[in-house]
Amino acid sequence: MTQEEARQRIAALSDELERHNYNYYILAKPTISDYEFDMKLEELARLEREFPEFLSPSSPTQRVGGGITKEFKSVKHRYPMLSLSNSYSKEDIEEFINRIKKSIDEEVEFCCELKFDGLSISLQYENGVLVRAVTRGDGMQGDDVTTNVKTIRTVPLKLHGDFPPFFEMRGEIVMPFESFDRLNEERVAQGDDLFANPRNAAAGTLKLQDSKEVARRRLDNYCYYMMMDDLVDRYQTHYESLMAARKWGFNISNFIALCKTIDEIFEFIDYWDVKRHELPFAIDGIVLKVNRYDQQQTLGYTAKSPKWAIAYKFKAEEVETELKSVDFQVGRHGTITPVANLSPVLLAGTTVKRATLNNEDFIKQFDLHYGDTVTVVKGGEIIPKIIGINFDKRQAEAMPVKFARTCPACGTELIQHEGEAAWYCPNTMGCPPQVKGRIEHFIGRKAMNIESLGEGKIELLYDEGLIKDVADLYSLTYDRLFGLAKEIPILDENGIETGKSRKVSFKEKTAQNIIDALEKSKSVPFERVLFALGIRNVGEVVAKTIVAEYHDIDAIMKASVEDLSAINTVGEVIALSVKQFFGNPINLDIVARLRAAGLQFAKSDNNTSALSQVLAGKTFVVSGVFTNYSRDGIKEAIEAHGGKNVSSISSKTDYVLAGDKMGPEKRKKAESLGIPIISEEDFEKMIGEEKDTAVPSESENVQLSLF
Ligand code: IVH
Repeated sequence: MTQEEARQRIAALSDELERHNYNYYILAKPTISDYEFDMKLEELARLEREFPEFLSPSSPTQRVGGGITKEFKSVKHRYPMLSLSNSYSKEDIEEFINRIKKSIDEEVEFCCELKFDGLSISLQYENGVLVRAVTRGDGMQGDDVTTNVKTIRTVPLKLHGDFPPFFEMRGEIVMPFESFDRLNEERVAQGDDLFANPRNAAAGTLKLQDSKEVARRRLDNYCYYMMMDDLVDRYQTHYESLMAARKWGFNISNFIALCKTIDEIFEFIDYWDVKRHELPFAIDGIVLKVNRYDQQQTLGYTAKSPKWAIAYKFKAEEVETELKSVDFQVGRHGTITPVANLSPVLLAGTTVKRATLNNEDFIKQFDLHYGDTVTVVKGGEIIPKIIGINFDKRQAEAMPVKFARTCPACGTELIQHEGEAAWYCPNTMGCPPQVKGRIEHFIGRKAMNIESLGEGKIELLYDEGLIKDVADLYSLTYDRLFGLAKEIPILDENGIETGKSRKVSFKEKTAQNIIDALEKSKSVPFERVLFALGIRNVGEVVAKTIVAEYHDIDAIMKASVEDLSAINTVGEVIALSVKQFFGNPINLDIVARLRAAGLQFAKSDNNTSALSQVLAGKTFVVSGVFTNYSRDGIKEAIEAHGGKNVSSISSKTDYVLAGDKMGPEKRKKAESLGIPIISEEDFEKMIGEEKDTAVPSESENVQLSLF
């Protein structure tokens, strides 16, 4: 085959395959068999291997994945990705429609659509070719996930017809129930954590580095919005633009209705509130949009959402089932959580077998009895909630649920702190789930990030007596790890044993990876080490806040409860937890051993990413919302120029850097102490950087370039 022949054949096959893809996935009307399709795809792949000069980034072969994204690049959206205002009642919808009718004299037609429960995506096309797919992010900038999105069959890589040269399509990436169930089944078998719902699964999938795995998981895409500079010159209505997009190759829902009256709108809502259970993917409401672009323009936008659209959210689904028994689980802080075992029941697309009962008060409040018929709802979280009991169905001989008085794991008598509903196991150092829980927390991604120790390995090391606390991790050696093996039971998404087990074993590579990861963790910054220690009430943000005020662990240990509670957002409860933690000699011993192992217990002074030292020795308090920076971004800029951030204003503060909506309390305090309040502009002058690429501010009525 000559080069020219190859070029022509590749072009013809690409066109043909993309057309078949469209027929199959968008129109659901395939015209060739799967086998014929696969043969043609294979032929194309073979030719592209032989003639790599003709491999196009939008070739149908790219859908099988293979590309690896090491790091997702953050990119600024050309048009901000706004959200929708939500409503939960029909009164809210009526109010929305009446408000619109007040601003617009003519008849208003609404485009009623499904509200897909996935994650929004911006698809950018240049001359009919998909060039970029970006997640919503914070609405101003998101992550470039193009390589992964290309594997989704319902995202057209190349368009056909009279498409505009440059435009963006907005849509939702969803994981159909079928793909979701299959994925979670596989994860049960492999002992991996399960996804709580299809939305989380879709989000997790889109951020995978390996696009082959993304392709395998079978995501889907629905588009619902077009954006371009001269949109209104091309189309008069939103509906028209969607119908055009469908012709070019986009997957547009078949379930769109144009409604003029409130009754028609409610009919659409009521229909889908019931029928949604028959859809192959999750929706969480209905979206209403004013159809005519000129009317949309008259209505305008708030800072966050269009005034011409609203989302009606369906109420959380609920279902009745029987309470069979109650388990008591022990958390890493010793808190005992009662968990209901239920008769398995289908709810919001997944089978529910467990529900949280919170604490003893919750059980008393419902006067819960074994065998009760309870109403369960499911929100976004893995474990559903009980919201009511059907007393009519209670059996006469039913026994009330009694809260445990001894720890189910170690048998120690439980205690209650004054004024709290929770019961605790006080055997902090000897109760296995507490100890293991603390070690699991320590190695977590947001803490020391020692991923290679995940998935049952802590359990094994603890059971083998190799680790009794987090400091023991650093005395592990390759020789001790290598060869360890044990069968670990696999739990399902409700934490119940599945009857299957998985062998956890430390082969050469695993053992070496763990030793390497432990070594690497020695450079994890101080604030994350403080978080990793697992001090009660000290989450990620609190740890950061404390470290912003204190240079090292010694300073924190020396600080009094008053000192600590004086830090903005650190109240007395947190301060007491910190004091209590460092008042315990066992914790002091752990800290001493971790320190000896070489972990970071002080802020690093040599800021390698420093841009300048113009702010050296200056202390800043940042408050409000900024135009050119996120809140964290402006703090980073201060540090990059040698300055220091503190969270509360004191006489030692040099500047208060004020954005929009600065808190009045802060302003008062700064004024009373005579501390200069500077603007974002003043700050940029200080660091010698005046930006000209301002993104829209948080003010009302942002005018988008859509019109
Ligand atoms: S229109 C300017 N239409 O809901 C408004 N959004 O809460 C653009 N969503 O971020 C959005 N289905 O991710 C629109 N038919 C639909 C939708 C939809 C789901 C999501 C979208 C958006 C969120 C708003």
